[in-house]
Amino acid sequence: MKKVVSAVVTVIFILSVAVVVWAGIANTKHNLSVTGPGTIKAVSETRICVFCHTPHGASPARPLWNHTLSSQTYTLPTSSDPQWSNLLTTVQQPDGDTRLCLSCHDGTVAIGSVVNLPGPAGGAGTISMQGTAGGLMPPAAYGFIGTDLSGTHPVSIAMNDALINDKNACTQTGAYTLQYPPGGGAVRLRPTSNTYNGQPGQLITTPTGFTYNGGVQCTSCHDPHIETTDFLVLGTGSPDPTKGHPGNWSALCDTCHPGTCP
Ligand code: HEC
Ligand code: HEC
Ligand code: HEC
Ligand code: HEC
Repeated sequence: MKKVVSAVVTVIFILSVAVVVWAGIANTKHNLSVTGPGTIKAVSETRICVFCHTPHGASPARPLWNHTLSSQTYTLPTSSDPQWSNLLTTVQQPDGDTRLCLSCHDGTVAIGSVVNLPGPAGGAGTISMQGTAGGLMPPAAYGFIGTDLSGTHPVSIAMNDALINDKNACTQTGAYTLQYPPGGGAVRLRPTSNTYNGQPGQLITTPTGFTYNGGVQCTSCHDPHIETTDFLVLGTGSPDPTKGHPGNWSALCDTCHPGTCP
């Protein structure tokens, strides 16, 4: 019964924010319905949320998740890669929100593949898409990540006091210092079961009383519903050569990395 009540509450919650979310997402590439602005979109399906959410018969992954998950094992960033030479964490396989993103972005599961098709029949099936490579995200697509995550900021990493202390001890010249993103801000720690030095991520309590162990996930930096460049929660697309990258994401990075070690 508790489960049913919480499911109903979640459905009401989703419906009540639907209008707000709809307004943001409709003009983005995450509008995968036939009205979407991107090249990858449905042949005829008009619903927007269905590719990712369903009110009924959802996958056990939250929140009311509808997209078929990927079962890939990923290549992960390690400290032997020059780009990540100062990495203290041993990156573990993705979990939580990151697996939701990778269910389309790793290019191994059809974009239209859902747990519960829209309409009265329902059930698992695939919504017909255009602009795909045999239903999959094409490797040449701007949004393609693939199964090699070694070029992406480490994700599904637990962030806790031990990691922050170790980073801020500054044993490596040029390493980034580390701090928690401020509570209630745009950059958020998201649930992960992974650990650092055997310890879980910082215990976080949401305003509605849920608790979880926090870490860095794709959704710490991206919100898949908002109308910003690359769905970034902070930062702009303008160049910032001082940080060695073509876009100005200083505000985003500085939220967790306030400085570099001497
Ligand atoms: C491309 C995939 C995608 C589409 C399309 C999408 N969402 Fe989501 N949504 C997600 C992901 C991933 C999460 C979990 C991450 C998060 O909480 O930010 C989520 C979370 C949510 C949540 C829960 C937030 C929370 O804090 O638990 C709500 C509510 C929601 N979506 C509403 C909608 C509505 C309404 C639509 C359609 C207008 C929609 N979404 C379309 C991917 C999508
Ligand atoms: C249901 C499939 C699906 C899911 C789930 C999904 N995406 Fe996407 N996403 C797409 C497609 C399709 C595109 C367009 C790719 C292209 O045209 O190159 C896209 C594009 C993007 C882009 C590029 C935006 C732009 O304007 O060019 C980003 C960034 C992105 N997604 C991040 C995410 C993140 C982060 C998540 C998880 C929170 C996520 N996506 C979940 C399907 C998905
Ligand atoms: C620490 C912050 C951060 C995390 C974590 C992160 N991203 Fe990004 N992402 C960015 C920034 C900043 C950009 C824009 C710069 C760029 O193109 O590299 C970006 C760009 C993208 C793009 C646009 C195409 C591209 O490759 O540049 C996609 C798609 C994307 N991210 C998806 C993801 C997915 C999926 C995850 C989780 C596996 C993820 N991101 C994790 C910060 C992040
Ligand atoms: C939500 C917090 C968060 C944000 C935002 C964030 N990072 Fe990180 N970053 C981390 C954590 C946690 C680690 C793991 C530290 C370790 O294990 O050494 C890390 C590790 C790194 C590392 C490897 C370790 C080091 O000291 O060099 C680099 C490089 C890095 N981040 C760059 C970036 C850049 C660039 C951005 C902005 C696009 C960014 N980060 C945004 C939390 C974050």
